[in-house]
Amino acid sequence: MQPKISHTAQDLNPVLQNPTESEEIVYQVFSVEEPTNNKWVNKTVINPGKIGEEYNKTHGHYHTTNPHPELYKVEEGEGILILQKKHEILLVKAKAGDQILIEPEYGHSWSNTGSTPLILLDNWSFGHSEEDYVFIDKHHGMAYYLAPEPSPNPNYQDLPQPIWVTPQQLPQGV
Ligand SMILES: [Fe+2]
Repeated sequence: MQPKISHTAQDLNPVLQNPTESEEIVYQVFSVEEPTNNKWVNKTVINPGKIGEEYNKTHGHYHTTNPHPELYKVEEGEGILILQKKHEILLVKAKAGDQILIEPEYGHSWSNTGSTPLILLDNWSFGHSEEDYVFIDKHHGMAYYLAPEPSPNPNYQDLPQPIWVTPQQLPQGV
């Protein structure tokens, strides 16, 4: 199946702690087409590995144009989801079977912290506008880089300390 999105390390330069010339594929997004399970819309596969010191990760975005929640399920692998809104940064360690509902006001990005692909399912059917990426591009990434420990992004001012939470401490969705 052809991915609808495919990002190399170099494609992610605007949001990396340290830009790279690597053309390795970091992650791909596929449409979920099985009619037996219409709950899931997208499948994201983040390859294991690092870009410099940072774990392979997704670009990160907000739901600015369509402020709706988004449900994620980890199908395989393990990773960290960073959730950020003003005055609050959450780091969620997640593994296969975990489900997380992201409230619409949180910017979010996944990192693959394991040695196998991190495979995620989500129910986001609205697509994305340019606007969804602007804040994170402008700040050169999320509030913390996982490099590999959480390292504050100097482009943010007055950053709160990140709070580690479990998927079970967050809304589980339906
Ligand atoms: Fe999203």
